[in-house]
Amino acid sequence: MTAQPQLLTTPAYTEEDHHTWSALYERQIALVADVACQLFLEGLPRLQLDPNRLPDPNVFSERLRAMTGWTLGDAQNEYLGATQWFEHLAERRFPVTNYIRRPHELDFTPLPDLFHEYFGHLAFFTDPDFADTAQMFGPLYLAANERQQLEIARLWWYTTEFGLIREDGKLKIFGAGLLSSHGELQHALKPETPKFDFDIRRVAETPSAVYNYHDHYFILDDPQHVRRIIQQYARMEGLPVPH
Ligand SMILES: [Fe+2]
Repeated sequence: MTAQPQLLTTPAYTEEDHHTWSALYERQIALVADVACQLFLEGLPRLQLDPNRLPDPNVFSERLRAMTGWTLGDAQNEYLGATQWFEHLAERRFPVTNYIRRPHELDFTPLPDLFHEYFGHLAFFTDPDFADTAQMFGPLYLAANERQQLEIARLWWYTTEFGLIREDGKLKIFGAGLLSSHGELQHALKPETPKFDFDIRRVAETPSAVYNYHDHYFILDDPQHVRRIIQQYARMEGLPVPH
């Protein structure tokens, strides 16, 4: 049986919602221009977001499917349970919300909204290598025990959500949570904010911050480092090594 593509729902957005999107987009594109990693800067033009209008999930789902075989899933306006989240990834589906933050929340929203999802994450999914790597988190998580699942979720968090990366001797932003956040991006780049080389054991033991900025960040060596992290963690833990 072939799975039917999911139809994603779009609420009736108001002009104020579109304005929130365009205010966020304009401010953030200027901020990330010099500090985002190559993968993001190359992916964003391929994604073709409209700076002035909220994205239609079905259009972007189809666009990604044509480029890397990923589609978008419906996150139903709230955090998915972790297992559901990784089940989506295993099926090459990225869950997105259709919620857009309120105008007074431009600087910070604890609930991931669609600016975070589309602006922060989706450029990466236009890259075939990243697209394959992201999927690998799914089967690894689903094969893991409870302790390992928490640790794998943190590996995802400190790479794809809040990771930094070294490029040509400079520190750049890799994580979608930073790329889509005006305040935390600047906090992360401050010289006094602690940053460490990515150490799997240490990251696995570092809780994620949802309501505050993180105290410190971890640095990837290159975009393929995420894949090596997953494979190394699987070997350390005796789990099936994803390829
Ligand atoms: Fe995210």
